[in-house]
This record gives sequence, C-alpha cells and structure tokens, in this order.
Amino acid sequence: MADRPKLRSQEWFGKQDRDGFVHRSWMKNQGLPQHLFDGRPVIGICNTWSELTPCNAHFRKIAEHVKRGVYEMGGFPLEFPVMSLGETLMRPTTMLFRNLVSMDVEESIRANPIDGVILLVGCDKTTPALLMGAASCDLPTLAISGGPMLNGRFRDEQIGSGTHVWKFGEMVRAGEMTLADFMDAESCMSRSAGHCMVMGTASTMASMVESLGMGMPMNAAIPAVDSRRYALSHMAGRRIVEMVREDLRMSKILTRKAFENAIRVNGAIGGSTNAVVHLLALAGRVGIDVSLDDWDKLGCDVPCLVNLMPSGKYLMEDFYYAGGIPAVIRALGDRIHKDALTVNGRTMGENTADAPNWNPDVIFPAERPFKEEGGIAVLRGNLCPSGAILKPSAASPHLMKHRGRAVVFESIEDFHARIDDEGLDVDESCVLVLKGCGPRGYPGFPEVGNMPLPPKVLRKGITDMVRISDARMSGTAYGTVVLHTAPESAVGGPLALVQNGDMIALDVAARTLHLDVPEAELARRRAAWTPPEPAHDRGYGRLYVEHVLQADRGVDLDFLVGKSGAHVARESH
Ligand code: FES
Repeated sequence: MADRPKLRSQEWFGKQDRDGFVHRSWMKNQGLPQHLFDGRPVIGICNTWSELTPCNAHFRKIAEHVKRGVYEMGGFPLEFPVMSLGETLMRPTTMLFRNLVSMDVEESIRANPIDGVILLVGCDKTTPALLMGAASCDLPTLAISGGPMLNGRFRDEQIGSGTHVWKFGEMVRAGEMTLADFMDAESCMSRSAGHCMVMGTASTMASMVESLGMGMPMNAAIPAVDSRRYALSHMAGRRIVEMVREDLRMSKILTRKAFENAIRVNGAIGGSTNAVVHLLALAGRVGIDVSLDDWDKLGCDVPCLVNLMPSGKYLMEDFYYAGGIPAVIRALGDRIHKDALTVNGRTMGENTADAPNWNPDVIFPAERPFKEEGGIAVLRGNLCPSGAILKPSAASPHLMKHRGRAVVFESIEDFHARIDDEGLDVDESCVLVLKGCGPRGYPGFPEVGNMPLPPKVLRKGITDMVRISDARMSGTAYGTVVLHTAPESAVGGPLALVQNGDMIALDVAARTLHLDVPEAELARRRAAWTPPEPAHDRGYGRLYVEHVLQADRGVDLDFLVGKSGAHVARESH
C-alpha cells in the first residue's frame, strides 16, 4: 500500500514509537491482528443504534453487513456509538438535541483515527444530526438509512405510522371510534423493524440523503427488513473504502446543485416540512448559500408525483416496489441537475437514466401528476417577517385563501387545557393560533403545529381548519397548517402580539400571511410585551437557548455554522 497517499489514521496507527504502541496495543485487546494497522483505510461506522430509538434498533445488524463490505475492499471498520434520538419517547422534543448530536458526531470523528465515515441514520433527527456533524469534518462520508417499516395493517385497512394515529385520535374524540379499537390498532401499526413508513420526516430525510447524492441508489425505499437493505449496506461498505482512496469528500458531493436537486425531489415526493430546517442547517455547515426562499423558488413548479401518506394513499413498501427515488428523479427530467456527483462515483443522471416506474398509481408521471403543487410555500407578511411555511399538498384547497378570527393559545399547555372546552368561542372559520413553540421558546421547536381541532367542530364532520404557530409539524401529519413562523413569539416576533378576535388573512397563492391589526395598535402591544424567562439556566439547555438560530436559518446553533475539517494538531499524550 506504499503507493497510496498517507491516510489520516496513520497519524495514530503508523507510528513506530511510544504513541504508536499506545494507539495499537489497546485496540488489540479486541482481537484485532497487526495487519489491520498497516495503512488500510479506517472506516468509522457512526451508529445511532439504541433500544430507546425503536426505528434504529436493528442497526447493529446493518453495521455487520457494512463491515463485510469494508473488509472485502481491504478496509478496517470500527463501529462507534453516538447519542441517538428516538422521536416517540424523548422529552421535550428530539429537535432540542439535533445540534447536540451533531456536536457528538463531529467531535467523535475528528478526535479519532478515522479516514472515512458511514453514517447509520433512520429516525427523524438522526439523519440531519449525523449529516451536519460529519459535514463539519468533511471526510469521505456515505449515509445509509435504516429503511422503513413494513406497511401497517389494521383489519382490512393499510395504516400509516403517525398519520393514522392522528386520524384515529380525532375519530375517538369525535365519538366515531371506540377506545378498544384504538388500542387494537396500536399493535397493527408498527409490525417490523424500521422507521415510520409514511412519507414522514424519516422517509423524507432518507429521500434527501439519496437525492443529495449522499446515499446509494434506493437508499430511501427498501424496507428495513428486506434482505436487499443488507445487500445495500454491504455494497456501501465496499464503496466507502473506494471513496477514501478517491478522496471523495462530503464537500465534493454537497454542492449547490445537490441541494437544488434535493429541494425539487422534496416537492415531488410531497416531503415533510421538517426537511426545510434540516437542509438549511446542513447547507450552513458546508457553506452553501441556500435560503428559505430557495425552497419556494425551486420547488414551486415541482408537481407532487408520489401518492404516499400523509398526502396520498400508499406507503413506503409500495414506493419501493414502484421504483423509489430513482424513478422519481428520472420523472423530474430537466428539473434535476444530472451532473451532480453521488457517493457511488456516478452522477445523478447516470444513476437514474434507466430507472423504471413499475406502478404509475404510486409514482405518477410528471405530465399527469398526483397533485399540481408539490413544493413548500414560503409565506411573508406582517405576521412572519422572516417567513413561515405551509405544505400545499397536505392542505385543504378551500382554505388556501382564508380570512378568519384568531383563537389564541399562549402555550401548548393553554391549548390542551381549553381546546376540548365546549364553551370555547370557536367555529370552523376561525384561525387557531399557538404561541411559545418555536426553537427558543419551547425550547426545542416541537411538532405540535398540527393542533387537534375542537370536538364541537369535529362533530360537524369538519376535518381541517387554518392553524398558525411557531412550531413544527410531524411529517406524518396533514392540514392547512402554517408552521415555522419567524421570528418566533418568544423572541418578540409578531406572533407574540396576536390577540383573540384579531382577523388573520392567509393567501397561499399570493404567499402572504397578514395580521389585520393597525400598526399603531401593534406598536402599543409590542411596547407592553415582556419576554418570557429563559427555560434553562444551566447545561446543554442553556447553551441551546442562548445560541439557537431561528427557523429561517435552520435552527442550528450560531457557533456550529460552518466546518473545521478533520485535522487535529496535538497528540493525546
Ligand atoms: Fe422514528 Fe417516525 S418515530 S421515524
């Protein structure tokens, strides 16, 4: 291997002195023979396995298949854990910890003798957290998603993760489903290893991995328990060794064109609104200028091609059989930068040129799309000077232009305390407004923006109302929901000034969100407004609230933006 450039790992393992002794000797207690330290690429397998993250609980097995591929190509795989983020269990919200995990990933990679990285990602925030951390080190890196669960099935109905939780929950509240049936459905939804199998945030981010060029073709759609997921992992293990030898770093793949491709694919798959903040944050790490307005500009003419829940009917297993992301990218034609490089060393165009579409009822052709408007609408106005977003494909057409009376909740606790009150002065024409759920205010930017409707509205058969908040929404949710309102209420954004009875006008076609209150009155309210006490006075929570950026900047911590590379000047002894 003398003809190859010296690897970073050889700064540890290649020394014939006391330090080299220390670096190798302790590693050998794992039964590792001498030849593994001879200058072959060391591949770090960054694993978010955890039994507290059920979506990633099968990752030890994926790692074993990656190792097979790495060894085959003459590499040396070393698996290491990072903090995991389980969407369903963690309080107050996993989003509070996305940036913390990214720091764990970045420092773990940089501090260790690693030449290339495999990122094992799955449950929602694990994907952006690992991409962001790795991007700040900029080594050759390849991401493998854990894959979606098999389709859920309750009696004779296909049911989707999350999407049917919200639906069944509303049905119980409206008296249309018994609690016993609701409890029965619980076991029918999550019936295999894997992440949520609707086009929620996990599936969206897996699709972003693939469309950014950071994952192998078909990374997003192969079910977690399908043997082909393990074959893909094996091949990824082979490929990362080659990437190290080619010095194919993350920054060579994550170009402006890659982000533009991803934004367009997000429109075509009816992807989660959460992708907006995650891609903004990732772009910030690699120094690519992507703005909130790019989401509207690049995505507004992209039709939604994919008929998957929550916007449509099918689930990720069906999407795999239909052709997955390669078929979508091929259908997007000239909207995609075909020369964008991907981790397998081929361009996006080469990877997808012959991609078949086996089921046009799951992946619609671009000439006859599933929905005309697939992208993310970015709204502006006096209620959201730094922007707010809405997902048209998940919204109700009759509410896309709406003027209604605000019914205001000062916090999520206030909402829960009053929403079921039959005396609440609300009807379906009102606009539900929720404050205190932004990045800094909650803190952590929770997925509570798709507020459940009041029971007295649900009983009329109404299933959607305009809702506005500074929160996020689960990618599995749907509705005419304005999210990520910035600046958030906790930092004095105009949302903080909204009062019961104010009129609010939403016009998605015009991309406006307007609080119909005279400026003089808003100025009076602004002068009387007092900021809330910081929610944390110590620990990571304090670091977070003092440094978190607003939604239009990706909710990264201000000092994490950018990258530092992987060089460390000093030895440990
Ligand atoms: Fe993990 Fe949905 S809860 S992906």
